[in-house]
Amino acid sequence: MPDTLTITDNRTGKQYEVPIDRGAVRAMDLRQIKTDADDFGLKTYDPALVNTASCVSRITNIDGDRGILLYRGYPIEQLAEHSDFLETAYLLLAGELPTAAQLTKWKTNVATHTMLHENMKKFMDGFRYDAHPMGIFLSTVGALSTFYPDAKDIFSEDSRRTQTLRLIAKVPSIAAYAYRHSQGRPYVQPDNELSFTGNFLNMLFKMAELKYQPNPVLERALDVLFILHADHEQNCSTSAMRTIGSAHSDPYSALTGAAAALYGPLHGGANEAVLRMLSEIGSVENVPKVIESVKSGERRLMGFGHRVYKSYDPRAKIIKRIADLVFAVTGHNPRLEIALELERIALQDDYFVERRLYPNVDFYSGLIYEAMGFQPDMFPVLFAIPRTVGWIAQWEEMLLDDEQRITRPRQIYTGAAQRDYVPREKRR
Ligand code: SDX
Repeated sequence: MPDTLTITDNRTGKQYEVPIDRGAVRAMDLRQIKTDADDFGLKTYDPALVNTASCVSRITNIDGDRGILLYRGYPIEQLAEHSDFLETAYLLLAGELPTAAQLTKWKTNVATHTMLHENMKKFMDGFRYDAHPMGIFLSTVGALSTFYPDAKDIFSEDSRRTQTLRLIAKVPSIAAYAYRHSQGRPYVQPDNELSFTGNFLNMLFKMAELKYQPNPVLERALDVLFILHADHEQNCSTSAMRTIGSAHSDPYSALTGAAAALYGPLHGGANEAVLRMLSEIGSVENVPKVIESVKSGERRLMGFGHRVYKSYDPRAKIIKRIADLVFAVTGHNPRLEIALELERIALQDDYFVERRLYPNVDFYSGLIYEAMGFQPDMFPVLFAIPRTVGWIAQWEEMLLDDEQRITRPRQIYTGAAQRDYVPREKRR
């Protein structure tokens, strides 16, 4: 049988053969379906792009029904077990795992870009002490574009390489500065003898000691969390990165928009919302009442559900295992029992089962971050740091894709028909 769709337009009786390619039909192939020569032709209508492939990509692949997540073909479970964040970043950006020599060079290059211009400190000092760190983060990334005007040269591979290194290396520094600002503590300079994640912990938590020594268990746990959050197909913030980048904005400006999308409580802000929800629940005894309020539609169970995963988010499974390792060091997080009871009840309740709602990446991550000493408002920032790699990889793939142009969707207009201006004195 041919890979085509035969469409009969019952308005005209005409038939059309539309090719099926990689599980999709091209929306533009529907434009030929018209009732007469003046007809614009058929569009597709897909609010929130629930069933629309916006691009062809080779970076990340998710099987939502089977709970599978692959970065460049490698299962997330294997990368979490054997890789580290910067190696995974290299894989996402370059498409292949680095050799030992390539990895050493890559890590050295990243480490040389961790410093921030001194003016950035003045810029960040302008925020109130209680400014949300994600607001500081996305504003400061946007401000970075003014320090690197060469970033506008987006079709120069050298320029993209330089901006890639700057962004990956500097977002942890920006995040750490935002945290230190909120704590009223002095900024800490990078220590490039430490690992990427070890240095991040250093810039966050170093106090009066001469040299900060990260706890190896927490350093590894955070590094694995960064691996898990690095990329995830065409999620909301990545779509924002691609859309802004399609207008040929520089990568700092595009990434600002992506971070703004991630900030939303339905997306990367969910891990913060989960912690606030668990705090509000307060005890295991209150869980049944909360489940009822979710089922009645009063609220959503934050950290549950996913547009793509209709089974357990594989990242949530790994995060649950990391939680035990972290709590062994930091001491138990009492809110874990509430989370486990929520999951236990939800996974057996028809409301959640029918809607295929399972814990997602955000359900347990906040518990670990809190145990590590982070305030909930830092959680979306901890998501943005690793996702910077995915945003850049997807942005570059879009730029180099010959099929991609400036994103400009159509609409179905249901507003007023053309009418004439009414003078003020005649308006009712
Ligand atoms: C991330 O896209 C990605 O890949 C994102 C991400 C990534 O790595 O980039 O994985 C990261 O954003 C994870 C998701 C974090 N967000 C949350 O945990 C917020 C709570 N979850 C949701 O609001 C919701 O599940 C979404 C936003 C994640 C998905 O929304 P959809 O796909 O648009 O689903 P929907 O809103 O159409 O819901 C379908 C049904 C509805 O019920 P009915 O109207 O059919 O009766 O399921 C219900 C919803 O009410 N539902 C929930 C629910 N999520 C969906 N009901 C209660 N609690 C929830 N969490």
